Amino acid sequence: MSNNNEGAGHRANTNASERIGMIWAEAANHVIGKDGSMPWTLPEDMAYFRSTTTGHPVIMGRKTWESFPEKFRPLPDRTNIVITRDASRHQELTNSGAIPVATALEALKAARAGAGAQEIWVIGGGEIYGLFAEAAQLALRTLINAEPEGDTKAPILDGSWSKVLSEPDTGWSTAKNGTQYRIEAWEKKA
Ligand SMILES: NC(=O)c1ccc[n+]([C@@H]2O[C@H](COP(=O)([O-])OP(=O)(O)OC[C@H]3O[C@@H](n4cnc5c(N)ncnc54)[C@H](OP(=O)(O)O)[C@@H]3O)[C@@H](O)[C@H]2O)c1
Repeated sequence: MSNNNEGAGHRANTNASERIGMIWAEAANHVIGKDGSMPWTLPEDMAYFRSTTTGHPVIMGRKTWESFPEKFRPLPDRTNIVITRDASRHQELTNSGAIPVATALEALKAARAGAGAQEIWVIGGGEIYGLFAEAAQLALRTLINAEPEGDTKAPILDGSWSKVLSEPDTGWSTAKNGTQYRIEAWEKKA
């Protein structure tokens, strides 16, 4: 993935006991979002997301924060850090239980002060994955065997990443609603 001057950057990640992970769900055509939400329903993936991120800080863009229904935010048992360039939104975000920050580096600083900061999860959306691609060591992606229309695409896992796990190994799991999916773990090469 490409570097980004505004991003968290590789050198921001100096603490050996800390791991920065990105987590997302991605359709076969790389779509992750449409009109401010996800163009599929997959409760099994939501449960996986919840169990992976609970107890740890989560970093997200302002649009992803707004994609959660008000009654579900802040995401419980997680320090919710929201990145926005719009300082006029900070008070409202604070009142709603988020920690607003203006940059990726501020987001990491806030995350490091949160509970469970040995693992920090970047939870999207498309713009925010780009900011943390250099700093992240782990990417968990749920692949969905569908090709929905969408306006937001997944980050590209280029040659600096290697796949370390796929569940199932080959083929797909089938959700209760019939959606086919599989979960992959990728690590940044040393
Ligand atoms: N499938 C999945 O796993 C998944 C996960 C997460 C999200 N999504 C989907 O992705 C979509 C949202 O993604 P998105 O890319 O449109 O938006 P996003 O990344 O969630 O948020 C973008 C916002 O973040 C702020 N921002 C971005 N770069 C910044 C920087 N360098 N410095 C400061 N602030 C910055 C800006 O907020 P301001 O405009 O307030 O300045 C910007 O509008 C939704 O459809 C959502 O459902 C899917």
